[in-house]
Amino acid sequence: MMTGGGPRSAASAELGTTVGPSGELSAPHNDQAMWNAVRENTALIDTQVRGPATDVLIQDGGMTWLTFRQGPLLTWGGWLLLGTLIALLAFFLIRGRIRIQGHKTGFTIERFAFVERFGHWLTAGSFILLGITGLLVLFGRTFLIPLFGHQAYSPIAIASKWVHNNVSWAFMLGIVLIFVMWVAQNLPSRTDLAWIAKGGGMFSKDSHVHARKFNAGQKIVFWSVILLGISISLSGLSLMFPMQFQLFSHTFEFLNWTRLPQLFLGEPLIVNMSPQHEMQLAQAWHAIVAFLYIAIILGHIYIGTVGMEGAFDAMGSGDVEVQWAREHHDLWYEEATGRDAHEYIPPPPETAARRS
Ligand code: HEM
Repeated sequence: MMTGGGPRSAASAELGTTVGPSGELSAPHNDQAMWNAVRENTALIDTQVRGPATDVLIQDGGMTWLTFRQGPLLTWGGWLLLGTLIALLAFFLIRGRIRIQGHKTGFTIERFAFVERFGHWLTAGSFILLGITGLLVLFGRTFLIPLFGHQAYSPIAIASKWVHNNVSWAFMLGIVLIFVMWVAQNLPSRTDLAWIAKGGGMFSKDSHVHARKFNAGQKIVFWSVILLGISISLSGLSLMFPMQFQLFSHTFEFLNWTRLPQLFLGEPLIVNMSPQHEMQLAQAWHAIVAFLYIAIILGHIYIGTVGMEGAFDAMGSGDVEVQWAREHHDLWYEEATGRDAHEYIPPPPETAARRS
């Protein structure tokens, strides 16, 4: 039963039959007002189905969302990831691997303790699973079903959804661990400005820039991981528990309060939205953040593996070559050891013996 089009211009669900103020049925007439009210979600709707949003019969935004999801989202997102991979390959071909320039000392220094590596790999492992399964779901209808057919794609989609939903908890825990362990060392400092001004020394072969435990580039990675991680987790929770949160109407209310939308868009953002609209925004936002996040992490993985000699050990064994520490994180090395980063270090006895 639904009534709409003004306080008492009531109408029944049967097309063309209107219900009068005292409940009497009347002959068919123009239902424009009723359908307008249904469409604008101002009609009083009563259905037998119970649950959130069951009284929304028409939701205009559905089509806009669908065309965005199948069109610009996939196209731009896909190009962003492909473009990032091409840019990294080009950087590798032009710059080559960033090598340890001085003589390796034969000594190592602990860079990350076990608990730090555990937090990192929990986040990294879950992120990779979330990224792969998320992309499988997002690109499924447009690319995978035409390739493999519905029959073959169905188990992939079911497994992806299961993995995605369940692994998300590990990722959220990882983000909390990373934040707690490393926030103090990732606060901005004056050395970061010099690091940024010199492009981190990455574009010239022999320029080393001062850095503590984390350089400015790593701080950017850290804050991206934390902020995008929070945002993607919140929108993900809203998708996992559909119609339960009003993430966007509350966010938009806050933004309207700051008057930024009025200033830049000329009007406030919509705050009175149906639960379906909330879900559409949550899905779009979740995917946009994911694309951006994956692009940043691709850069991070590059530099942590093939891009820089000696970097992977920091998260692998936890110990790095002293010369690597002196070249890339000189201030941290000096703080951690109390030694000068430029002093001569004689080779360890067994290396010295082999040399003579
Ligand atoms: C195969 C994947 C990955 C590899 C090989 C890798 C490698 C590394 C390495 C070697 C470091 C230490 C760098 C140093 O000692 O200075 C590091 C740090 C870090 N990683 Fe990863 N990582 C991976 C994936 C991820 C993912 C998925 C995330 C988060 C979503 C992440 C977040 C971080 C953060 C926040 C740091 C500290 C800041 C930084 O060094 O940039 N990593 N990673």
